[in-house]
Amino acid sequence: MTENLHIPCGASKEEIYRELLPSLQALTEGESDFIANMANVASALKETFGFFWVGFYRVSGDRLILGPFQGPPACTRIAYGKGVCGSAWKGGRTLIVPDVDRFPGHIACNSASRSEIVVPVKSEGNVTAVLDIDSDRLDHFDEVDARYLEKICELL
Ligand code: SME
Repeated sequence: MTENLHIPCGASKEEIYRELLPSLQALTEGESDFIANMANVASALKETFGFFWVGFYRVSGDRLILGPFQGPPACTRIAYGKGVCGSAWKGGRTLIVPDVDRFPGHIACNSASRSEIVVPVKSEGNVTAVLDIDSDRLDHFDEVDARYLEKICELL
């Protein structure tokens, strides 16, 4: 799928997201299974951008439980309001963390992670999962990532 992307050399991050979005739309609209779609989205983001870790945590009762991901093994359960993921769930909005060491309560699944973005996935206004992306670079994520990753999460 992502091998069909036509991304020119030197393309900006926004151009890459713009190219990726319709491919992900085509891939997810023919599949109703939430887990299958999360798995392909995680894979496509990892393949396209080479992020250190890309994955989903699903809401289950008062916890988040690890879902489909790409990258090193990660923490399996996160309580409501805890860490970056639990905070994004509680607040119902995207969180950009430029330096994970400066986020009180950050849950370190891997010491290589330096910055992070977490985007809630919603269904009828309720958070059903979060998309979590970790980078091994400080200050990797900005409003462009937030805007496009939110659009990607809407596909789910
Ligand atoms: N850092 C996250 C935990 C999940 S891992 O980064 C994969 C957090 O603080 O919620």
